[in-house]
Amino acid sequence: MLNVALPKGRLGEKVYSMFASAGFECPEALGDSRKLIFVNEEKGVSYFWVKPSDVSVYVERGSADIGVVGKDIIDEYKPDVYEILDLKMGKCRMCVAARKGYRDNPGRTIRVATKFSNIARSYYSSIGRDIDIIHLNGSIELAPVLGMSDVIVDIVETGTTLKENGLEVIETIMPISARVIVNKAAFEFKKKDIIKVLDSLMEQTKENG
Ligand code: PRP
Repeated sequence: MLNVALPKGRLGEKVYSMFASAGFECPEALGDSRKLIFVNEEKGVSYFWVKPSDVSVYVERGSADIGVVGKDIIDEYKPDVYEILDLKMGKCRMCVAARKGYRDNPGRTIRVATKFSNIARSYYSSIGRDIDIIHLNGSIELAPVLGMSDVIVDIVETGTTLKENGLEVIETIMPISARVIVNKAAFEFKKKDIIKVLDSLMEQTKENG
């Protein structure tokens, strides 16, 4: 049985379709039931829907053999898994943003609001800057608007959230896209199924440029 952790949401649904095209169908997985696990004994596959930021936890712990997760989560949590393939989907970027017209004072500790504390720390340490991290779990854009932080480190996809809150990108830290990750032990003992999926995903990914 191949156990797959899918990130809830549109990206996960696309990823499911790619796994189905690889020969691991389980159509019930796409219904609007509140069930979280779907099994197709005949195809030898089970799918779990999990919070996108938790996919790497299931794969690292071996409850899932394979999963799909954003590069942001991999860089933030550094799970002990194999990162195998860039699906070139779910593209966005990790950015530093601030209120329009914000002027940095390089001599001062900069207050950074973010969900991605480790990414923010390593970015600012690479440019030799002292920071005060304000760790938040969502709606990060509020922090500079309320004057709680100078900048944010967050994901920008369309830029709409920044724009609608009077913020702008001041630096791009890195591009982000969805990655296939595999549990290290499963890669050995379920090699045949995993290679079959990866070969097909690689082929399907070619169209994503
Ligand atoms: C993400 C991110 C930004 C927004 C960017 O938030 O943290 O707030 O998407 O997208 P955009 O550039 O297309 O506007 P998410 O929807 O994951 O919610 P949360 O961080 O507020 O929980």
